Amino acid sequence: MRNFTSIKQLTATQIHDLLNEADQWLNSDSTLLTTHSNLLNHKTIVNLFFENSTRTRCSFELAARRLGAILLNFDAHTSSAKKGETLFDTVDYLHAMGVDLFIIRHSQEHCPTKLAEHLGFRAQVINAGDGCNEHPTQAMLDMLTIRRHKSDFSQLRVAIIGDIVHSRVATSDIQALITLGVNDIRLVAPSTFLPNTPCQPQLSVHQELSSGIQEVDVIIVLRIQRERMAETAMPNADDYFRHYGLTEKKLKIAKPDVIIMHPGPMNRGIEIASEVVDGPHSVVFEQAKLGVVIRMVLIKRLLDSSTNHKI
Ligand code: CP
Repeated sequence: MRNFTSIKQLTATQIHDLLNEADQWLNSDSTLLTTHSNLLNHKTIVNLFFENSTRTRCSFELAARRLGAILLNFDAHTSSAKKGETLFDTVDYLHAMGVDLFIIRHSQEHCPTKLAEHLGFRAQVINAGDGCNEHPTQAMLDMLTIRRHKSDFSQLRVAIIGDIVHSRVATSDIQALITLGVNDIRLVAPSTFLPNTPCQPQLSVHQELSSGIQEVDVIIVLRIQRERMAETAMPNADDYFRHYGLTEKKLKIAKPDVIIMHPGPMNRGIEIASEVVDGPHSVVFEQAKLGVVIRMVLIKRLLDSSTNHKI
Protein backbone atom coordinates (compact mmCIF):
# COMPACT_ATOMS: atom_id res chain seq x y z
CA MET A 1 0.00 0.00 0.00
CA ARG A 2 1.97 2.99 -1.31
CA ASN A 3 -1.10 5.21 -1.33
CA PHE A 4 -4.35 5.18 0.64
CA THR A 5 -7.08 6.32 -1.71
CA SER A 6 -9.91 3.87 -0.95
CA ILE A 7 -11.04 1.76 1.99
CA LYS A 8 -11.59 -1.03 -0.58
CA GLN A 9 -7.79 -1.50 -0.67
CA LEU A 10 -7.86 -3.09 2.79
CA THR A 11 -8.86 -6.60 3.87
CA ALA A 12 -10.37 -7.24 7.31
CA THR A 13 -6.99 -8.47 8.54
CA GLN A 14 -5.24 -5.34 7.33
CA ILE A 15 -7.87 -3.06 8.93
CA HIS A 16 -7.58 -4.90 12.27
CA ASP A 17 -3.79 -4.75 12.06
CA LEU A 18 -3.88 -0.95 11.68
CA LEU A 19 -6.49 -0.62 14.45
CA ASN A 20 -4.34 -2.84 16.70
CA GLU A 21 -1.41 -0.50 16.25
CA ALA A 22 -3.60 2.52 17.07
CA ASP A 23 -4.84 0.68 20.20
CA GLN A 24 -1.26 -0.11 21.22
CA TRP A 25 -0.34 3.58 20.99
CA LEU A 26 -3.49 4.57 22.90
CA ASN A 27 -2.94 1.98 25.61
CA SER A 28 0.78 2.57 26.08
CA ASP A 29 2.30 5.09 28.47
CA SER A 30 4.00 6.65 25.48
CA THR A 31 4.11 10.42 25.28
CA LEU A 32 3.90 9.99 21.50
CA LEU A 33 0.27 11.08 21.44
CA THR A 34 0.83 14.36 23.23
CA THR A 35 4.37 15.42 22.40
CA HIS A 36 6.45 15.55 19.27
CA SER A 37 8.60 12.56 18.33
CA ASN A 38 11.28 12.27 15.68
CA LEU A 39 9.89 9.14 13.99
CA LEU A 40 9.51 10.93 10.65
CA ASN A 41 11.90 13.84 10.97
CA HIS A 42 13.28 13.37 7.48
CA LYS A 43 9.85 13.51 5.78
CA THR A 44 7.80 16.38 4.34
CA ILE A 45 4.01 16.24 4.10
CA VAL A 46 1.55 18.68 2.55
CA ASN A 47 -2.10 19.14 3.46
CA LEU A 48 -3.57 19.89 0.02
CA PHE A 49 -7.16 20.84 0.79
CA PHE A 50 -9.35 22.23 -2.00
CA GLU A 51 -12.53 21.88 0.12
CA ASN A 52 -13.21 23.20 3.61
CA SER A 53 -12.27 21.08 6.59
CA THR A 54 -11.77 21.37 10.32
CA ARG A 55 -11.39 17.85 11.74
CA THR A 56 -9.56 16.09 8.91
CA ARG A 57 -7.09 18.89 8.13
CA CYS A 58 -6.29 19.61 11.79
CA SER A 59 -5.97 15.95 12.74
CA PHE A 60 -3.61 15.25 9.82
CA GLU A 61 -1.59 18.30 10.87
CA LEU A 62 -1.39 17.10 14.48
CA ALA A 63 -0.56 13.56 13.35
CA ALA A 64 2.25 14.71 11.05
CA ARG A 65 3.73 17.10 13.63
CA ARG A 66 3.58 14.51 16.44
CA LEU A 67 5.51 12.14 14.19
CA GLY A 68 8.14 14.82 13.66
CA ALA A 69 7.50 15.43 9.94
CA ILE A 70 7.59 18.86 8.30
CA LEU A 71 3.99 19.79 7.49
CA LEU A 72 2.94 22.36 4.88
CA ASN A 73 -0.61 23.67 4.88
CA PHE A 74 -1.57 24.57 1.31
CA ASP A 75 -4.30 27.21 1.20
CA ALA A 76 -6.28 26.71 -2.02
CA HIS A 77 -8.00 30.11 -1.65
CA THR A 78 -4.74 32.09 -1.69
CA SER A 79 -2.73 29.74 -3.93
CA SER A 80 -1.77 30.06 -7.58
CA ALA A 81 -4.58 27.62 -8.39
CA LYS A 82 -6.60 30.86 -8.44
CA LYS A 83 -4.36 32.04 -11.32
CA GLY A 84 -5.13 28.96 -13.38
CA GLU A 85 -2.37 26.58 -12.30
CA THR A 86 -3.42 22.95 -12.76
CA LEU A 87 -3.45 20.48 -9.87
CA PHE A 88 -0.73 18.35 -11.45
CA ASP A 89 1.54 21.39 -11.98
CA THR A 90 0.98 22.47 -8.37
CA VAL A 91 1.86 18.98 -7.17
CA ASP A 92 4.93 18.69 -9.42
CA TYR A 93 6.29 21.99 -8.09
CA LEU A 94 5.68 20.90 -4.47
CA HIS A 95 7.32 17.54 -5.20
CA ALA A 96 10.33 19.37 -6.65
CA MET A 97 10.58 21.21 -3.31
CA GLY A 98 10.81 17.86 -1.50
CA VAL A 99 7.26 16.82 -0.54
CA ASP A 100 7.05 13.06 0.18
CA LEU A 101 3.34 12.70 0.96
CA PHE A 102 0.30 14.56 -0.42
CA ILE A 103 -2.85 14.52 1.72
CA ILE A 104 -5.56 15.69 -0.64
CA ARG A 105 -9.19 16.73 -0.29
CA HIS A 106 -10.94 17.68 -3.51
CA SER A 107 -14.51 18.09 -4.76
CA GLN A 108 -13.68 16.03 -7.86
CA GLU A 109 -14.35 12.33 -7.35
CA HIS A 110 -11.35 9.98 -7.85
CA CYS A 111 -8.96 12.95 -7.89
CA PRO A 112 -6.65 11.27 -5.27
CA THR A 113 -6.37 8.12 -7.41
CA LYS A 114 -5.51 10.17 -10.51
CA LEU A 115 -2.94 12.11 -8.49
CA ALA A 116 -1.37 8.87 -7.22
CA GLU A 117 -1.15 7.58 -10.82
CA HIS A 118 0.42 10.86 -11.91
CA LEU A 119 3.04 10.75 -9.14
CA GLY A 120 3.90 7.06 -9.57
CA PHE A 121 6.88 6.23 -7.36
CA ARG A 122 7.90 9.88 -6.86
CA ALA A 123 5.63 10.60 -3.86
CA GLN A 124 2.63 9.18 -1.98
CA VAL A 125 -1.04 10.13 -1.62
CA ILE A 126 -3.71 9.89 1.08
CA ASN A 127 -7.35 10.60 0.20
CA ALA A 128 -8.81 13.08 2.72
CA GLY A 129 -12.20 13.07 0.96
CA ASP A 130 -13.06 13.20 -2.75
CA GLY A 131 -16.48 14.63 -3.63
CA CYS A 132 -19.27 12.18 -2.82
CA ASN A 133 -16.96 9.22 -3.40
CA GLU A 134 -14.82 8.21 -0.40
CA HIS A 135 -13.35 9.32 2.92
CA PRO A 136 -11.23 6.29 3.84
CA THR A 137 -9.42 7.75 6.88
CA GLN A 138 -12.80 8.73 8.37
CA ALA A 139 -13.88 5.09 7.94
CA MET A 140 -10.72 3.95 9.75
CA LEU A 141 -11.33 6.26 12.71
CA ASP A 142 -14.98 5.22 12.79
CA MET A 143 -14.03 1.52 12.84
CA LEU A 144 -11.51 2.21 15.61
CA THR A 145 -14.20 3.99 17.64
CA ILE A 146 -16.72 1.16 17.14
CA ARG A 147 -14.15 -1.52 17.99
CA ARG A 148 -13.20 0.22 21.25
CA HIS A 149 -16.88 0.04 22.34
CA LYS A 150 -18.21 -3.15 20.71
CA SER A 151 -16.43 -6.47 20.66
CA ASP A 152 -17.78 -8.42 17.68
CA PHE A 153 -18.48 -6.77 14.32
CA SER A 154 -20.40 -9.84 13.07
CA GLN A 155 -23.08 -9.33 15.76
CA LEU A 156 -23.57 -5.60 15.24
CA ARG A 157 -26.62 -3.77 14.00
CA VAL A 158 -25.64 -0.41 12.57
CA ALA A 159 -27.93 2.41 11.42
CA ILE A 160 -26.72 5.23 9.18
CA ILE A 161 -29.17 8.14 9.23
CA GLY A 162 -29.31 11.12 6.91
CA ASP A 163 -28.00 12.35 3.58
CA ILE A 164 -26.48 9.05 2.52
CA VAL A 165 -26.50 9.65 -1.23
CA HIS A 166 -24.14 12.64 -0.98
CA SER A 167 -21.98 11.22 1.81
CA ARG A 168 -18.45 9.95 1.15
CA VAL A 169 -18.36 8.99 4.84
CA ALA A 170 -21.34 6.68 4.32
CA THR A 171 -19.75 5.05 1.26
CA SER A 172 -16.47 4.34 3.06
CA ASP A 173 -18.12 3.35 6.36
CA ILE A 174 -20.48 0.91 4.62
CA GLN A 175 -17.56 -0.70 2.77
CA ALA A 176 -15.49 -0.96 5.97
CA LEU A 177 -18.40 -2.41 7.97
CA ILE A 178 -19.05 -5.03 5.28
CA THR A 179 -15.33 -5.91 5.11
CA LEU A 180 -15.30 -6.37 8.91
CA GLY A 181 -18.30 -8.73 8.78
CA VAL A 182 -21.29 -6.57 9.81
CA ASN A 183 -24.46 -8.24 8.51
CA ASP A 184 -27.13 -5.69 9.45
CA ILE A 185 -26.53 -2.18 8.09
CA ARG A 186 -29.63 0.01 7.91
CA LEU A 187 -29.77 3.06 5.67
CA VAL A 188 -32.32 5.44 7.21
CA ALA A 189 -33.40 8.48 5.19
CA PRO A 190 -36.12 10.01 3.04
CA SER A 191 -36.10 8.62 -0.52
CA THR A 192 -34.27 11.71 -1.87
CA PHE A 193 -31.27 10.95 0.37
CA LEU A 194 -31.06 7.23 -0.33
CA PRO A 195 -28.67 5.75 -2.90
CA ASN A 196 -30.07 3.88 -5.90
CA THR A 197 -31.14 0.38 -4.89
CA PRO A 198 -28.30 -0.86 -2.68
CA CYS A 199 -27.42 -4.36 -3.86
CA GLN A 200 -25.35 -5.78 -0.99
CA PRO A 201 -27.35 -8.28 1.13
CA GLN A 202 -26.10 -6.67 4.38
CA LEU A 203 -27.96 -3.43 3.55
CA SER A 204 -31.60 -2.57 4.18
CA VAL A 205 -33.44 0.67 3.53
CA HIS A 206 -35.73 2.39 6.05
CA GLN A 207 -37.71 5.54 5.43
CA GLU A 208 -39.05 5.40 9.01
CA LEU A 209 -36.57 6.21 11.77
CA SER A 210 -38.35 3.90 14.22
CA SER A 211 -37.76 0.72 12.18
CA GLY A 212 -34.27 1.89 11.20
CA ILE A 213 -32.90 2.28 14.72
CA GLN A 214 -34.81 -0.49 16.50
CA GLU A 215 -32.39 -2.55 18.64
CA VAL A 216 -29.29 -1.13 16.92
CA ASP A 217 -25.85 -1.05 18.60
CA VAL A 218 -24.40 1.84 16.62
CA ILE A 219 -25.98 4.91 15.04
CA ILE A 220 -24.01 7.05 12.59
CA VAL A 221 -25.74 10.39 11.99
CA LEU A 222 -24.93 12.41 8.86
CA ARG A 223 -25.44 16.07 8.11
CA ILE A 224 -27.42 17.26 5.07
CA GLN A 225 -24.76 18.23 2.51
CA ARG A 226 -26.28 21.50 1.37
CA GLU A 227 -23.19 22.24 -0.80
CA ARG A 228 -23.80 19.13 -2.93
CA MET A 229 -27.48 19.73 -3.81
CA ALA A 230 -29.73 22.35 -5.36
CA GLU A 231 -31.27 24.74 -2.81
CA THR A 232 -34.72 23.55 -3.95
CA ALA A 233 -33.86 19.95 -2.94
CA MET A 234 -33.17 20.97 0.67
CA PRO A 235 -35.86 19.64 3.00
CA ASN A 236 -37.50 21.96 5.50
CA ALA A 237 -35.26 21.86 8.60
CA ASP A 238 -38.15 21.56 11.09
CA ASP A 239 -39.84 18.77 9.09
CA TYR A 240 -36.55 16.94 8.76
CA PHE A 241 -35.82 17.19 12.47
CA ARG A 242 -39.33 15.96 13.31
CA HIS A 243 -38.95 12.83 11.12
CA TYR A 244 -35.22 12.05 11.20
CA GLY A 245 -33.63 14.22 13.88
CA LEU A 246 -32.19 12.04 16.65
CA THR A 247 -33.55 12.90 20.11
CA GLU A 248 -33.18 11.18 23.51
CA LYS A 249 -36.83 10.09 23.27
CA LYS A 250 -36.43 8.42 19.86
CA LEU A 251 -33.19 6.82 21.02
CA LYS A 252 -35.05 4.59 23.49
CA ILE A 253 -35.90 2.24 20.59
CA ALA A 254 -32.22 1.44 20.12
CA LYS A 255 -30.20 -0.86 22.40
CA PRO A 256 -29.59 0.59 25.89
CA ASP A 257 -25.83 0.69 25.23
CA VAL A 258 -26.08 2.17 21.72
CA ILE A 259 -23.28 4.52 20.71
CA ILE A 260 -24.00 7.66 18.67
CA MET A 261 -21.45 8.76 16.08
CA HIS A 262 -21.26 11.75 13.75
CA PRO A 263 -18.31 12.57 11.46
CA GLY A 264 -18.92 16.32 11.86
CA PRO A 265 -19.59 19.08 11.20
CA MET A 266 -22.85 18.68 13.12
CA ASN A 267 -25.98 20.75 12.66
CA ARG A 268 -27.57 20.60 16.10
CA GLY A 269 -31.34 20.77 15.93
CA ILE A 270 -31.49 19.50 12.32
CA GLU A 271 -30.11 15.93 12.19
CA ILE A 272 -29.30 15.58 15.89
CA ALA A 273 -30.51 17.18 19.13
CA SER A 274 -27.99 18.82 21.43
CA GLU A 275 -29.15 16.54 24.27
CA VAL A 276 -27.94 13.55 22.20
CA VAL A 277 -24.61 15.14 21.19
CA ASP A 278 -23.86 15.97 24.82
CA GLY A 279 -25.54 12.87 26.26
CA PRO A 280 -24.15 9.59 27.61
CA HIS A 281 -24.38 7.61 24.34
CA SER A 282 -22.42 10.12 22.26
CA VAL A 283 -18.86 9.31 21.16
CA VAL A 284 -18.54 12.18 18.68
CA PHE A 285 -15.62 13.90 20.42
CA GLU A 286 -13.89 10.58 21.04
CA GLN A 287 -14.04 10.06 17.26
CA ALA A 288 -12.02 13.26 16.79
CA LYS A 289 -9.41 12.13 19.34
CA LEU A 290 -9.08 8.70 17.71
CA GLY A 291 -8.84 10.35 14.28
CA VAL A 292 -5.44 11.80 15.18
CA VAL A 293 -4.09 8.43 16.33
CA ILE A 294 -5.25 6.38 13.35
CA ARG A 295 -3.90 9.04 10.99
CA MET A 296 -0.53 8.84 12.76
CA VAL A 297 -0.56 5.08 12.19
CA LEU A 298 -1.52 5.46 8.52
CA ILE A 299 1.05 8.18 7.76
CA LYS A 300 3.81 6.20 9.47
CA ARG A 301 2.92 2.93 7.73
CA LEU A 302 2.76 4.56 4.31
CA LEU A 303 6.02 6.46 4.65
CA ASP A 304 7.80 3.46 6.22
CA SER A 305 6.56 1.29 3.33
CA SER A 306 8.14 3.64 0.80
CA THR A 307 11.46 3.28 2.66
CA ASN A 308 11.27 -0.44 3.40
CA HIS A 309 9.24 -1.57 0.35
CA LYS A 310 6.76 -3.42 2.58
CA ILE A 311 3.22 -3.20 4.07
N1 CP B 1 -15.34 14.51 9.27
C1 CP B 1 -14.83 15.44 8.44
O1 CP B 1 -14.40 15.14 7.31
O2 CP B 1 -14.85 16.72 8.93
P1 CP B 1 -14.16 17.94 8.20
O3 CP B 1 -14.92 18.22 6.93
O4 CP B 1 -14.24 19.10 9.16
O5 CP B 1 -12.75 17.56 7.89
